[in-house]
Amino acid sequence: MEKRKELFSGKAKSVYTTDDDNRYILLFRDDTSAFDGKKIEQLDRKGMVNNKFNAFIMEKLEKAGIETHFEQLLSDNETLVKKLEMMPIECVVRNISAGSICRRLGVEEGLEMTPPTFEFFLKNDELGDPMINEYHINTFGWAEAAHVERMKELTFQVNSVLKELFFQSDMLLVDHKLEFGLYEGRVILGDEFTPDGCRLWDKETRKKLDKDRFRQGLGGVVESYEEVGRRLGIDFGA
Ligand SMILES: Nc1ncnc2c1ncn2[C@@H]1O[C@H](COP(=O)(O)OP(=O)(O)O)[C@@H](O)[C@H]1O
Ligand SMILES: [Mg+2]
Repeated sequence: MEKRKELFSGKAKSVYTTDDDNRYILLFRDDTSAFDGKKIEQLDRKGMVNNKFNAFIMEKLEKAGIETHFEQLLSDNETLVKKLEMMPIECVVRNISAGSICRRLGVEEGLEMTPPTFEFFLKNDELGDPMINEYHINTFGWAEAAHVERMKELTFQVNSVLKELFFQSDMLLVDHKLEFGLYEGRVILGDEFTPDGCRLWDKETRKKLDKDRFRQGLGGVVESYEEVGRRLGIDFGA
């Protein structure tokens, strides 16, 4: 597989074309951002850790019957993926209250949410990724109704599989964000699943093991991601 030109560079990853028209290469960089890009830092090893973490999770999801864009790991920082037509929408499921829902609705952090809640956000850094609903998506043509239904269905499926996976390794999957795209007309999971886009707490102590360590300046960010990975049995090498 030959890497051709950089198509675009996001906040944490860069996307490259390849000699195959239907494949992209994702490069996971060490850049770490929060608050819609207002806080940015380089965290040593994060690109490698997230690349391997994402590969592990995507393979688990594939085994559970959920189609993803993941094809194969190419190197410490690169993954080959299916080229998707991304929808400009983020799907968020919450199992426990934390983050923006606490600020928005005035609920305290750490409440069990039964059933889990679902939220759509528009992927737009300039606007601060505002929360939207299905009427906005329909009216502004950001996705078709059938694709919206499928995104919701797949997001809840991912949540069931991963909640269980993390729980077995003594962690709570508090919430997570997914991005989907179209491939040959099908809605499939794209982008990444890493501790950058979810909240994970230790089951007993509720210690934060995810990007909130970065947002809140708690330190040990990449060490925490590796700890999560080790608990799941991921080998990050020396
Ligand atoms: N398989 C894919 N095909 C096309 N685009 C993708 C795919 N997977 C992820 N992307 C897009 O590539 C970009 C990844 O880079 P990232 O640093 O996460 O960007 P952002 O700053 O938008 O979060 C995102 O815009 C994401 O939607
Ligand atoms: Mg991103």
